[in-house]
Amino acid sequence: MPIRTIIEPFRIKSVEPIRWTQRADRERFLQAAHYNLFLLPADDVLIDLLTDSGTGAMSIYQWGAIMEGDESYAGSRSFVRFKNSVQDIVGYTHVIPTHQGRAAERILFNVMCKPGDMVPNNTHFDTTRANIETVGAEAVDLLPPESRQPGTRLPFKGDMDVAALEALIARVGRDRIPLVMLTVTNNSGGGQPVSMANARAVSAVCHKHEIPLYFDACRFAENAYFIKLREPGYADKTPKQIAQEMFALGDGCTMSAKKDGMANIGGFLCTNDDILARQEKDLLILTEGYPTYGGLAGRDLEAIAVGIQESLQEDYLRYRIASTAYLGDHISEHGVPIVQPPGGHAIYLDAKAFLPHIPVDQFPGVALAAELYLEGGIRSVEIGSLMFAAAAQMELVRLAIPRRVYTQSHIDYVVEIILQVFARRAQIKGMRLTYEAPFLRHFTAHLEPMPA
Ligand code: F0G
Repeated sequence: MPIRTIIEPFRIKSVEPIRWTQRADRERFLQAAHYNLFLLPADDVLIDLLTDSGTGAMSIYQWGAIMEGDESYAGSRSFVRFKNSVQDIVGYTHVIPTHQGRAAERILFNVMCKPGDMVPNNTHFDTTRANIETVGAEAVDLLPPESRQPGTRLPFKGDMDVAALEALIARVGRDRIPLVMLTVTNNSGGGQPVSMANARAVSAVCHKHEIPLYFDACRFAENAYFIKLREPGYADKTPKQIAQEMFALGDGCTMSAKKDGMANIGGFLCTNDDILARQEKDLLILTEGYPTYGGLAGRDLEAIAVGIQESLQEDYLRYRIASTAYLGDHISEHGVPIVQPPGGHAIYLDAKAFLPHIPVDQFPGVALAAELYLEGGIRSVEIGSLMFAAAAQMELVRLAIPRRVYTQSHIDYVVEIILQVFARRAQIKGMRLTYEAPFLRHFTAHLEPMPA
């Protein structure tokens, strides 16, 4: 009989205690944080599913490599290792290190976009959208209508609407579209993968119109594994071969190494274009650092060089995708509405269906995230009207799973808490804003429950 149980493919060498709190404490903490979970001290959180970004556990090989970090300002040996490791996967000519993904985005859009331009994407993440809008361009999400239905099960729900891309190019003209982006996996759209067939079709449209295609590659390894599992013709390929094939369809990428780089900090920007690379490195020097470190320590470059290869290991990816699905399947079998099928790095509760009595302008996602904290000390994040205002396509609460951090019993606890909140969902009240910043307001907003 083949063995069916999928286990964590590691044992634990170092532990970090987590702290229990009482409900009465959590009520006080939440009030002091103005009902915004970003404003909570992490010590007051029991299970932190706010993000999978920079929150993963590093391997012994990464910690070993950290001791070998070369902290030279220019020409560091660690940069060469980093560049070789990244290039082995992405294949692009220029690899520019940055302190995280959004620094790569800021540099890319500053160099490539002018006011009035449009940047299509399957779905932009919050920082990507904000960096495009900050240079006066427009971020356009091109997800087909069926992929915006949380309950619809599609194998590649992150796929871009290729017909809509062609229509947009025909309508506004190639000159207003300096680049097209594909986010793998599609974070804001539910952690859903993009198929190779879709990437190929998008690449063909881009190249026909001579528009460069860039990948927002944060979770490229998880995306590659979904292709292996779900797309005909890929079962016998390694995740690395699949990732290499996908990157070859584009002209460059932005990357947050805090996700599938398996590091706690870092990112990079890649391009095949020599002229763009020169401009990008000039901007990098202005705010990030010299092009052989880009705002990172040599030891960080080492951690990424090792981690980005580990993210493609099949044992790891099998466990990663199965453990995320475990959470999704165990709550949805009790009727909890989630984005289906489960994504790679996170489970997304459908707050609109969970709390149908709360109107969208009373932030059902924020209300639900607050309840999960009150009930069990779990921190999640709203991805909906607070984060995206009018651009919100769904009202979601994301439970992001840090890489190699929590065990199955932690997740069993999360399941229990969600089911308890689900049982008394009718009593949950909406929220109203009492303070908001002019952009990326969700990080610092203040809210309060609607009066009875
Ligand atoms: N693109 C995507 C798809 C992301 O998910 C993120 C970050 C970024 C770009 C920016 O990278 O944080 O290194 O500057 N997402 C995190 C999250 C913060 O929680 O999903 P960064």
